[in-house]
Amino acid sequence: MESKGDKVQVHVNPQGHASCEIQKGVRCGVIIPGASGDLTFRKLIPSLYNLYAAGRLPEEFFVLGYARTKMDDNAFRIMAEDSVRKSEKAVIETRLKDFIQRCFYVPGGYEDKAALLNLKKRANELAAKFNTGGNLIVHMATPPDLFGKITKCLSEAGLLMKTADENPFIRVMYEKPFGRDIQSAKALNSELLNYLSENQIYRIDHYLGKETVQNILVFRFANMIFEPVWNSEYVDHIQITFAEDIGVEHRAGYYEKYGALRDVFQNHMLQLAALIGMEHPAGFDADSVRGEKIKFLKSIAPFDEGGIKDNVVMGQYAAGNNMTGYRQEQGVSPDSCVETFFALKMFVDNKRWQGVPFYIRAGKRLKRKASHIAVVFKKIPTCMFCKEHQGNTMSPNILIFGIQPEQGVNLTFQAKIPGSKMCLAPLEMKFNYNDLFGGRTSDDYETLILDCMRGDRILFWTKEGVELSWQLLQPVLQKWEACGMGEKQSLIKMYQAGAWGPKEADMLIEKDGRKWIIKE
Ligand code: NDP
Ligand code: BG6
Repeated sequence: MESKGDKVQVHVNPQGHASCEIQKGVRCGVIIPGASGDLTFRKLIPSLYNLYAAGRLPEEFFVLGYARTKMDDNAFRIMAEDSVRKSEKAVIETRLKDFIQRCFYVPGGYEDKAALLNLKKRANELAAKFNTGGNLIVHMATPPDLFGKITKCLSEAGLLMKTADENPFIRVMYEKPFGRDIQSAKALNSELLNYLSENQIYRIDHYLGKETVQNILVFRFANMIFEPVWNSEYVDHIQITFAEDIGVEHRAGYYEKYGALRDVFQNHMLQLAALIGMEHPAGFDADSVRGEKIKFLKSIAPFDEGGIKDNVVMGQYAAGNNMTGYRQEQGVSPDSCVETFFALKMFVDNKRWQGVPFYIRAGKRLKRKASHIAVVFKKIPTCMFCKEHQGNTMSPNILIFGIQPEQGVNLTFQAKIPGSKMCLAPLEMKFNYNDLFGGRTSDDYETLILDCMRGDRILFWTKEGVELSWQLLQPVLQKWEACGMGEKQSLIKMYQAGAWGPKEADMLIEKDGRKWIIKE
């Protein structure tokens, strides 16, 4: 270790990570329903290109887009090239050219039998041309309420079939949100099982593909020193913040139907809470890890009537700092009561976390992009340095997992400030992915697509897990939906675009004598 000012830098033993195996994809075709959309443009095509450019996909691979927008292969290739150039600073021209030659497109709707037959014919021809051995991944990139219908249509067209056989494999990746409440999630799960077996279904939560999120498991379970203090005896509370500076952008149609709780609490936020709170899995395999997460979700105390009133704050951004308010965004109803922000407190009813509040807040058009988890430890119970500290209580140890844009781990601890007097101050020990590993790390979608190709299900969500997370949210959704328009207008707390959310979210934590961490 080397000390530089207030930072402690850790040197990684190059042997340590040189031995890591670089994982490679398996030959296959990737069909993307909804290929004319935002996710395909911003995430899927750049991720596939990056994997291909880095030699992590075999040459036996193709992408076949499908959507109603009229395009031919050439127009789709122009779009694909544009999407790569917009997302990547350093494009490898020869690899891009080869990648683009592997991109194809068929236009059509989901009830258009002739178009679907054309899609199947193209898929078969491409499978033969690129020697994919019949392996197929379908990445559903359409609005989520179409997943069931599209699966049925693709199945009836003979593109999908229920099979336990992995050779060749047919796998379908479903975007989130998977359902919009407990009933629709259950209905979707059972509908999909008419056409696919569970081992063909890959439910995505792209947060699980982030390096910093995967690191939480390693940090907790590959180190000895934190586990003994990871419980209610030492931890005062947990905070999870998911702040975005962007507004609803062009996704008003979707957002008006879903809102922040469905958009990010049911999935990303509960996944982060589970990674922080779960017990030690028996092994690093999909069943063990996902099984422990399920146990954690089952331990979260359900929200009751009083709990919702006291512990849940819903907010919506209003105009401010030269930005329009949510209700003025294109496609949003002028009296919309859809929440663009929430803050809540929940408890986990098990031995480890008894009495430890988990505070979670998430929102759009907040001051800056910042996702992190803070584990705030209890204050030291003794007063040995009280006199030196002028009677002030010392701040506690805080361990922060930076998810993005700061990626790493920070630990604050008390230290002596050099000088004759015994003077104490909290210092930070920082580990930052960029400083340490440099370059670019794998993008979340790269990781997830590669895992799906390899049949590794550890980062994908199970049927039971999805249903449990909706079950937990259900009382809040029900209560909210039972409110009349007038009541909703008074319950939704407005905040200025570019601020840190409504003051009620601060009050939620401050009434317990605590504060949100990293506000500026
Ligand atoms: P879009 O709204 O851009 O829709 C994708 C495509 O779906 C459209 O281009 C459209 O293609 C097709 N589509 C839209 N409505 C219909 C309809 N009624 N019938 C048939 N096709 C339709 O969605 P995104 O690309 O933003 O998102 C896709 C999925 O990914 C969603 O489930 C979303 O929740 C999820 N997601 C998106 C993220 C993002 O950043 N965009 C992030 C995380 C998840 P056409 O009209 O050409 O048929
Ligand atoms: C998606 C949400 O799941 O995650 C979006 O639907 C949100 O509303 C996005 O903007 C944030 O993802 P990331 O990876 O940019 O934090």
